[in-house]
Amino acid sequence: MSISFNEKTRVFRLDTVTTTYAFCIHEAGFPLHLYYGKHLPDDDLKHLLGRGMFTSFSPDVPGFSHTGFSLDVQPQEFPGFGTGDFRASAVEIQNADGNCATDFRYVSHNILKGKPDLCGLPHFRDENGESETLVLCLEDRATGAEAQLLYTVYNDLPIMTRSVSVTNRTEKPLRIQRLASLCLELPTMDYDMIHLYGKWGKERTETRRALTHGTQSIESRRGSSSHNHNPFVALAAKDSAEEHGEVYGAALVYSGNFKIECEVDAFNTARLLMGINPDGFSWLLGPNETFTAPEAVFTFTDGGLGEMSRIFHRAIRKHLLSGPWKDRERPVLINSWEAAYFDFDDDKLAAFAKEAKSLGIEMLVMDDGWFGHRDSDDSSLGDWYVNEKKLKGGLGSLIERIHAEGLKFGIWYEPEMISPDSDLYRAHPDWCLHVPGRENSPARQQYVLDMTREDVRDNIFAQMCDVLSKNEIDYVKWDFNRNLTEVGSAALPPERQQEVFHRFVLGTYDLMDRFVKTFPNILFENCSGGGGRFDLGMLYYSPQIWCSDNTDAIERLTIQFGTSLCYPLSTMGAHVAARPRTPLSTRAAVAMMGTFGYELDPRRLTDAEKDEVRAEIRAYHETHRLVSEGDLYRLISPTQDPFRAAWQVVSPDKTETLVTTVVMRMPETMYFPLRLAGLDPEKRYTDLATGETYSGALLMYAGINLTGRLYLDGQSAVLDFKAE
Ligand code: DGJ
Repeated sequence: MSISFNEKTRVFRLDTVTTTYAFCIHEAGFPLHLYYGKHLPDDDLKHLLGRGMFTSFSPDVPGFSHTGFSLDVQPQEFPGFGTGDFRASAVEIQNADGNCATDFRYVSHNILKGKPDLCGLPHFRDENGESETLVLCLEDRATGAEAQLLYTVYNDLPIMTRSVSVTNRTEKPLRIQRLASLCLELPTMDYDMIHLYGKWGKERTETRRALTHGTQSIESRRGSSSHNHNPFVALAAKDSAEEHGEVYGAALVYSGNFKIECEVDAFNTARLLMGINPDGFSWLLGPNETFTAPEAVFTFTDGGLGEMSRIFHRAIRKHLLSGPWKDRERPVLINSWEAAYFDFDDDKLAAFAKEAKSLGIEMLVMDDGWFGHRDSDDSSLGDWYVNEKKLKGGLGSLIERIHAEGLKFGIWYEPEMISPDSDLYRAHPDWCLHVPGRENSPARQQYVLDMTREDVRDNIFAQMCDVLSKNEIDYVKWDFNRNLTEVGSAALPPERQQEVFHRFVLGTYDLMDRFVKTFPNILFENCSGGGGRFDLGMLYYSPQIWCSDNTDAIERLTIQFGTSLCYPLSTMGAHVAARPRTPLSTRAAVAMMGTFGYELDPRRLTDAEKDEVRAEIRAYHETHRLVSEGDLYRLISPTQDPFRAAWQVVSPDKTETLVTTVVMRMPETMYFPLRLAGLDPEKRYTDLATGETYSGALLMYAGINLTGRLYLDGQSAVLDFKAE
């Protein structure tokens, strides 16, 4: 890893173990992109600039007409608006005089050891001095705005991060209209755009389409990253596939409205932009104020989508997750939601715990319905005190009973929400997001708290602290069950209402930060009506996120495979539910692809099923380290094969591997040789169930013959191999 600047050529090089990123500073001061891809020797990269593309409609940069230098065709690191580059811009600032022409040029730079914090925003960390950061200082002379682009490279992984901040150095206010975190210029359009689309119950489904002229984009305007699109994208060479070919991957460390757009211009070059969605956003910047945009993380590999995922997984596990639960074995939990919904009391929960303990389950999570007077989803959000009609004797007494059964205890919250039928709403009707003169649109019969306000956050923090500090609670599920509408804040002046979407996210981050710092030992799991906020911003605060409310094992395959494109298995909340269309063993095999638990009434299991659950939990304990630390290989994708899905996890030293296959629909043939991946061809691997041994070469090049074992609907097999 290194960052260098050649004074003579004015070329910056940012090298990781396997990649090179380069740009140069043009005489006019514009940072122009040169290259991002496979690692290059120390060569003249500046010659890459010549593109010979131009039209008579391409304006010259003032003072550079003699050189025919036009921003219209240049690959830029930080393209502005309205000064000759007509493609989508990374930055647009409205000056005090109302115009929006923006053009940032080089002033100076600094190369730092390590990685600065991004105040108030989640970001990739560097706890062991494994990174270097380039701080590139730019200014827009006409407006007096300064920008800093921060590029970080790590020495252990081929990832880079980039973030941007803008400071107003004038006496008058400026308004930021758009500020993308990442701008990645590609010399051709010969890529497919791969992204994750979906909806509630069907999140993060992989889709792939060829880039075409014009702009292709995905975005959220829902106030959260959303069920519908995920802030992740890959641009993959047309001939690339799971384990070969060139792939660029990028993700935003952000949980709010985002936009990822890729514009292909008339010269067949592509520009990828990623950042806060400019729709509904602008930010008033007073004199000497600074605005920092969220961080983007990106990578390049020629090892296909699988290698891209493995790079992201390692990077997220090592540099984004934090706290004691980051690498610790997570307890096998039973969650009351699908077991009882709102219909529970202390006796029922204690009975769940007793039965669960006998199965080997380690923690009971009391989901929605324990507070205020909540017996359905129509009340009490914001009233975070226990409903003693349900939990007779109070929370302390229930927790004692659960502990007496030998289980840990976890609890559910939805901190950012408020029910119109709540004491909190009656006392503070202006504490929810709202717009004067408009009625609030209810969703799930609830409104959204104004998280931009410190007094609101203080109230929720105090209420929750009261519960969390007075009771022995090991786990919190942090839910978020609606999208934002009527996004206005009573605490902000009219000229700052366009900041509310982003300030809402900052407020949520602030609250989460306070909780993880005050209760460092609590395991936090994020959730948003399933996986409506599955993003890197949330993972900064909680090491796992509930993947989806869809707990059908076959449906989950598509969701979990899609999620794994960017996010590690250790972050994916997955449970076994009471969905008898798939055998219990298959439901467990799929849930073991993520964090593991149960979401059913354990008293309803037959004796044979109970024995099966005990065996599954033993298997989880034996394999969880491999699943959470190993390298993932997606062998057969459920979006590409209508019949079977298969995946494999390999230990970093290649001495152990776990291979899971699920039949989604009866295949055309029983014959099924499954080729494995990621093994050492020289090693011999023993199938722990049969004692048979095979060379890594045979398993990878010819495959393991599973004929007859994986044929019927819903069948599954989990094979565990160890090298001698
Ligand atoms: C949505 C979550 O995804 C569910 O698991 C459950 O916690 C419900 N909310 C409770 O309201």
